[in-house]
Amino acid sequence: MSFKLAVLASGRGTNLQALIDASKMGEMPAQVEVVISDKKEAQALKRAQDNKIPAIFVDPSSFPSKKNFEQELIRILNGFDYDLICLAGFMRILSPFFINNVGKPIINIHPSLLPAFPGLNAQKQALDYGVKFSGCTVHFVDEGVDSGPIILQAVVPVEEGDTEETLAQRILQEEHRLYPLAVKLIAEGRIRIEGRKVFIE
Ligand code: GRF
Repeated sequence: MSFKLAVLASGRGTNLQALIDASKMGEMPAQVEVVISDKKEAQALKRAQDNKIPAIFVDPSSFPSKKNFEQELIRILNGFDYDLICLAGFMRILSPFFINNVGKPIINIHPSLLPAFPGLNAQKQALDYGVKFSGCTVHFVDEGVDSGPIILQAVVPVEEGDTEETLAQRILQEEHRLYPLAVKLIAEGRIRIEGRKVFIE
């Protein structure tokens, strides 16, 4: 299995787990090579360790600037052989400096049907707006916030009485299916980007 992932995560890491599980089950021809977090206590780091994957904490507060922090991320990433960066609940906006210098494509998963409800608290935004359907999106990362070319989306109904938590949970189930599927398509070389459109071949 040669296609390798670097995962950046800040929190509980259930999407990371979905990638690890899909890899182990042979559902996705790719493996997680390294996990990097900006949060020392991130459960994502523990999940990586439990699976014998290098788990690295980089403390943003120990760098004088965002650029210095991102330079360190790039330095660490360069120490690994990998093909794709997967953001999985990484709660920082990567600057154009990082995106243009890291030298690998970056994808993200977002819990709404983009371009609706980018940024934080997407599930709350959807509930507050009153939409009847929401969902999740896997997209390439560009210099905007949740604005890059869309690879896959899944639709999830909003039900009467939903809270932010119940909706988030329903969306999360689809995230765990969609993210490994997007990685599979990329690993198989079946993704072509034209402008901001992504074609699956
Ligand atoms: C997910 O809802 C993902 O869409 C968003 O952040 C959350 C991360 O959850 N980007 P987890 O850490 O993967 O459990």
